[in-house]
Amino acid sequence: MKEKEKLFLSNKAWAKEKQKSDPEYFKKLAKDQAPNYLWIGCSDSRVPANEIIGAQPGELFVHRNIANMVVHTDLNLLSVLEYAVNYLKVDHVILCGHTGCGGIKAALSQSNFDLLNKWLRNLKDVYYHHKEELAPIQNEEDKVNKLVELNVLEQVNNLVKTGVIQKAWNKGVNVTIHGWIYDMETGLVSSLVECDKNSEIDPIYKYQFTDSQSDTL
Ligand code: CO
Repeated sequence: MKEKEKLFLSNKAWAKEKQKSDPEYFKKLAKDQAPNYLWIGCSDSRVPANEIIGAQPGELFVHRNIANMVVHTDLNLLSVLEYAVNYLKVDHVILCGHTGCGGIKAALSQSNFDLLNKWLRNLKDVYYHHKEELAPIQNEEDKVNKLVELNVLEQVNNLVKTGVIQKAWNKGVNVTIHGWIYDMETGLVSSLVECDKNSEIDPIYKYQFTDSQSDTL
């Protein structure tokens, strides 16, 4: 059997199973979505967002990219964030990194990855920012996982630096940002950091909003 046929067959079996447990399942889901969480995670096939936290279809709005980055010029990420916060009105944004991340490993190496160099450069900058802490780590795996951790903290900070989040907080919207790590060896997630509207923002990154400003990113 061809690979593609296998996928269609699996899909049919899945749809049948869902319909069997609730004949109205797809009708109800098709009406609308009202997820309470935005998940920003790594594209890694071993970290399936819904599955690892037992979320059902409709419960999680998802954005994934290599090494779960929040790059301030990434219109894709910013659009997802804007839509999740201002239209879906999610209460939580989860930024989840994972141990043994291939993107982090690649960024730590001196290999040339052509186009990917541009994306990995954002991770190299995180390394550079924390090199006093990272450079002395001899064990390669430990170094990767320490950068995974520091990267989650940096990307949570990058979320806080966006106009989307600051504007929501300014309006009194209580959206909480969570920095998590998924441990590939145990399948467990743990929390590293949590930010909400009472969190400190460095003045250089802090915006002052007026009523007329409606679309500051
Ligand atoms: Co990864």
